[in-house]
Amino acid sequence: MSFTKPYIFAAMSNTPDGNTLKNIVSHCKEYGFIYPSSDIYDGLGATYDYGPNGVELKNNIKNYWWQAMVRMHGNIVGLDAAIFMHPTTWKASGHVDAFNDPLIDNKDSKKRYRADVLVEEYIAKVEGKIKKEVTKAAKRFGDAFNEEEFIRTNGRVVGYKEKIAQVEKRLGSSLSSGNLADVKALIEELEIADPVSGSKNWTDVRQFNLMFGTEIGSLAEGADKIYLRPETAQGIFVNYLNVQKTSRQRLPFGIAQIGKAFRNEIIARQFIFRMREFEQMEMQFFVKPGTEMEWYESWKEKRINWHKALGLGENNYRFHDHHNLAHYANAAADIEFNFPMGFKELEGIHSRTDFDLKAHEEYSGKKLQFFDPEDNESYTPYVVETSIGLDRMFLAVMSACYTEEKLEDGSERTVLRIPPALAPNKVAILPLMNKDDLPEKAREILSQLKFDFATQYDAKDAIGKRYRRQDAIGTPYCVTIDHQTLEDDSVTFRERDSMAQERVSIAELMQTLEEKVSMKRLLSSL
Ligand code: GAP
Repeated sequence: MSFTKPYIFAAMSNTPDGNTLKNIVSHCKEYGFIYPSSDIYDGLGATYDYGPNGVELKNNIKNYWWQAMVRMHGNIVGLDAAIFMHPTTWKASGHVDAFNDPLIDNKDSKKRYRADVLVEEYIAKVEGKIKKEVTKAAKRFGDAFNEEEFIRTNGRVVGYKEKIAQVEKRLGSSLSSGNLADVKALIEELEIADPVSGSKNWTDVRQFNLMFGTEIGSLAEGADKIYLRPETAQGIFVNYLNVQKTSRQRLPFGIAQIGKAFRNEIIARQFIFRMREFEQMEMQFFVKPGTEMEWYESWKEKRINWHKALGLGENNYRFHDHHNLAHYANAAADIEFNFPMGFKELEGIHSRTDFDLKAHEEYSGKKLQFFDPEDNESYTPYVVETSIGLDRMFLAVMSACYTEEKLEDGSERTVLRIPPALAPNKVAILPLMNKDDLPEKAREILSQLKFDFATQYDAKDAIGKRYRRQDAIGTPYCVTIDHQTLEDDSVTFRERDSMAQERVSIAELMQTLEEKVSMKRLLSSL
């Protein structure tokens, strides 16, 4: 099937600028994707509720991840562990003692910041200067421009790169050695100012634990302190043996889980990028010690392919390898996405060694080992983890797909160019008029499609207005029922991105939609 009447746009924009995030936030509220939590009480900081379209999009992202990880791999199985866990879990994992953020206050503005984020923002500014130099040079040299050579040889760019490396190294070593005085000294030496007031009058840096604590049991004096889990991963580690035995898996194998996590983030800005209650999609892959680097590289590749298959823009992703490794890791990288506020972490891939399983063995007194029949020996497996924030993935989709367009006829539209397999609604059924048996015919089509596709019915307002409404919520296809439909069982089939329309028969609809919106097509491209 081909579209015959493509429109030509006079202008398009979804360029990351200061307003893009603001526009996305208000679009999400207006069109039922995301509301501030407890909105009637003016909201609760860094906590959000997903509305009717938001929950559908979120479920589709979850489904894409789950199918790609669990269904597509015979050696990955699922788990849904409780949020509350035995308090010793968090002692063993190191979260009680070390799950901290280094905080600094500005004495003049009284604003509080994460000290490491202030330094990272300084680095991002230097990266911005490199980008500017590259853009300037590309303009100057035209077709003859070799970006890679320019970055390698241009004196100013090399200087900026050295500065970044120096700052990263110093921040890394002072954070990992707990030398908070040096973190403050670094902020002062780099002359970092409060982004709000411009003041450089800083307090000392101090650590703040991010876990939310509560009590279990009804009597305060007999109650035990427990925590809301700050990551889903520990539910997987403590269940390693249960799952391995009951699913009869041999190494290498993985356990996947989607669930809520909670962190008392002090600096919670940027919408759903950093929340206090959020969802993670994590997979722990258990491997034979010594093979972990192979698997680490393999999972880096698989995960970036998963992202790129969505078609949100090849250049919107980059890897950031960690130099400053967490105490449990021997390699780690982030997949960063080009959010409206710049490249930021979307997913982490970590080679976590046997740190967690060994710690749980020590604290629980239970062996968490695998008997390898080939080597005739038992060992504690190493773990490669992939961990992605579902809400961050949601924001990545929104950021890449939110587009304001000026059309050829001078009108404007806002369209969410969401990949069809993820779109909250796959098809809208629109009777051209609310009379002459058109609604009855439309409902007949709806009742055929609704079992297989998330479908909307809309009979209110002029058809152009209804198309715009569907564009704004990212519905990839609209089916319009008119008088000709009553005669020959054909409908107008409209495509969201090109706005092209063509006539198709009702009998073809099911298969056409199946080909265009199915998750199967997306998964088989992996
Ligand atoms: N188990 C490993 C782990 O939790 P992490 O880098 O702290 O690693 C993994 O978190 C992912 O969870 C991040 O890449 C991010 O997508 C998401 N994430 C972390 N903190 C978040 C927050 N406060 N709000 C939203 N997403 C968050």
